Amino acid sequence: MSTRFTKAAAVLAGTALLLAGTAACSAERGGGAATGSATGTETGAAGGGGGLIGIAMPTRSLERWNNDGANLEKLLGDMGYETSLQFADNKVDQQITQLQNMINQGAEVLVVASIDGTALGPVLENAKAAGISIIAYDRLINQTEAVDYYATFDNYKVGQLQGQYIIDTLGLETEAGPFNFEPFAGSPDDNNAKFFFSGAWDLLLPYVESGVLTVPSGKAPASNDQWTTIGIQSWESAKAQSEMDNRLNSFYTDAKVNVVLSPNDSLALGIAQSLDAAGYTPGMDWPLLTGQDADLANVKNMIAGMQAMTVWKDTRTLGQQVATMVDQIMKGEEVTVNDTETYDNGVKVVPSYLLDPQVVTPDTIQKDLVDSGFYTAAELGL
Ligand code: BGC
Repeated sequence: MSTRFTKAAAVLAGTALLLAGTAACSAERGGGAATGSATGTETGAAGGGGGLIGIAMPTRSLERWNNDGANLEKLLGDMGYETSLQFADNKVDQQITQLQNMINQGAEVLVVASIDGTALGPVLENAKAAGISIIAYDRLINQTEAVDYYATFDNYKVGQLQGQYIIDTLGLETEAGPFNFEPFAGSPDDNNAKFFFSGAWDLLLPYVESGVLTVPSGKAPASNDQWTTIGIQSWESAKAQSEMDNRLNSFYTDAKVNVVLSPNDSLALGIAQSLDAAGYTPGMDWPLLTGQDADLANVKNMIAGMQAMTVWKDTRTLGQQVATMVDQIMKGEEVTVNDTETYDNGVKVVPSYLLDPQVVTPDTIQKDLVDSGFYTAAELGL
């Protein structure tokens, strides 16, 4: 009995050793429902011997990162590269471990959508020392030399599109108001969030200062660099919802909110839930609510009159651009960039490729999102 037990334990231990190298890969893939095999590592699954590319995504909990990861994995696989795709549950330590595993596995390029853009310096410096190239995906990686390129949508423009939409739709240039306005900002640890806020605030703050927009909660940063005071940690819908609940309960007992600046769709979802629970009705007193990402639930909310617009960043084009950059690096070609000024990470200006975001409204859902194949009409219930 004890011999058999010992032998079984030894076999198990051996298996554990064999699996150790790939455990980090399979853990996330196995745990998630979205794509990939339940047990195997992605490494080697799609490849044609072109080299291993590590793809680090922040979380599965937001729709866009699942799409981004799956898209990039497919594009690189089709080009003949092996991939290791990891999602880090919005936990910085987990992302660092995943990156270190990719380095150990011999990745030649790392594509990293960071959770906290300032926390990856040491692990990426290990990568650099091993001769690995690093592309910051969507979010800039700060305070380190160890980032070669950055590919993203123009983040400042995202905010401007939201701000300009509010100005045009409410007619702020001519209307006296006052409109009751509640602004939100994204996660304080996400470098993009400050760009989104600045883009919107540069356009909207003058109307707050002139009194055309009033902010009953008082949560109106006096300048762009105070945006973190209204930031929602980790971009969580539930946190945005409870923040909106608090503002409605405390400051809107005798008034209605007319307009809400939400920097993205995950926040807009929570804010919409709060408005719904507070008795706001689409088509009647529902406020103008902005968003970003064209997440499925939010596009459905737009169709239902619960969100006015979203800023769409076609993740397929970002994936395509990054796959091209990876291929250029691997072939020793010059890497295509179109901005060498904007994204200073505190140590260097990172050569960047910026894509154009675009506004989608209920009127353009069919043309922009369905005709382009981003969603099927059936998915949207159209
Ligand atoms: C991305 C947004 C996204 C947000 C939350 C940002 O860095 O640019 O598209 O909505 O993170 O995941």
